[in-house]
Amino acid sequence: MSRLLITGGSSYLGQHLVPQALAGHEVVYTYFSHDPWGWPQGRRLDLRDGVAVQALVAETRPEIILHLAGSNRGGVVMAEVICQGAAHVARAATATQARLIHLSTDVIFDGQHAPYREEDPPAPLHEYGRAKAEAERLVQAHANHVIVRTSLVYGLTRPDHGTAWVMAALGAGQPVTLFTDELRNPIWADSLSRACLELAGLDYRGVLHVAGAQCLSRAAFGLKLLDYWGVTARATLQLGRTDPTRRPQNCCLDTGRAQRLLQTPLPGVDEVLSRPG
Ligand SMILES: NC(=O)c1ccc[n+]([C@@H]2O[C@H](COP(=O)([O-])OP(=O)(O)OC[C@H]3O[C@@H](n4cnc5c(N)ncnc54)[C@H](OP(=O)(O)O)[C@@H]3O)[C@@H](O)[C@H]2O)c1
Repeated sequence: MSRLLITGGSSYLGQHLVPQALAGHEVVYTYFSHDPWGWPQGRRLDLRDGVAVQALVAETRPEIILHLAGSNRGGVVMAEVICQGAAHVARAATATQARLIHLSTDVIFDGQHAPYREEDPPAPLHEYGRAKAEAERLVQAHANHVIVRTSLVYGLTRPDHGTAWVMAALGAGQPVTLFTDELRNPIWADSLSRACLELAGLDYRGVLHVAGAQCLSRAAFGLKLLDYWGVTARATLQLGRTDPTRRPQNCCLDTGRAQRLLQTPLPGVDEVLSRPG
């Protein structure tokens, strides 16, 4: 049992990871605008406030910080939360000698050179990718870190953000385009949570690509999830192609290192969706 601090416990991923973590660890989780559970382990934290981050880490003395929090809403706030947040968390981890597991993304890559390995240089195309790439750079200032680069996160008990948006738009009769040329290897939130908790207990340091075994287009992925969630209203759904200068096309990650390192399986979408309920 370790003492864990999980930032962004209220995130989509956090809502899978925190309950798993509580089963085997002493946990404090943070939220910003909403606490999904109202449990005594929850603490409100604004990551842009460096003094507050230092104070919470000094008070709770985590052995491991799992830094999930971030924002992809765009604009100044997004960059502040991602970059200042990463810098504040890394500084606090250094001050208390905590191990830091930082969540990053496949869209730090340009989408032209897949499959991407851990050593490949970031080349982000958009604002969110640039902020997450900068956050990686800031986290590397702390020696005992792992940068977990992952892909689209989905779950089986509640639709992920992207799927929820598509379902709402289709339900309202609004046009939705699913891209056939944007390739990703989506990961089941349960697998990613387990992998992060396993990594917390290992000595591995540096970047690790943790994503699902199956590389497929966002269109194929989206259609599989619409089937899973039983969405039949698809009159306004169309398939389309992306603008490769604005959005990375193929960000599939080479996950060989994670598969060799971790005992946690990283199944692909078809395997996860065909699991007996
Ligand atoms: N979802 C994906 O497909 C995906 C793909 C690749 C990588 N990732 C990475 O995985 C991590 C989790 O992603 P997610 O999609 O699950 O996140 P999410 O659902 O968008 O949640 C964002 C989290 O950040 C918190 N937050 C926002 N502003 C904050 C602030 N000023 N101070 C402190 N916390 C703040 C939110 O708290 P409140 O909700 O309480 O406001 C929430 O817990 C992120 O690092 C993300 O980059 C996600």
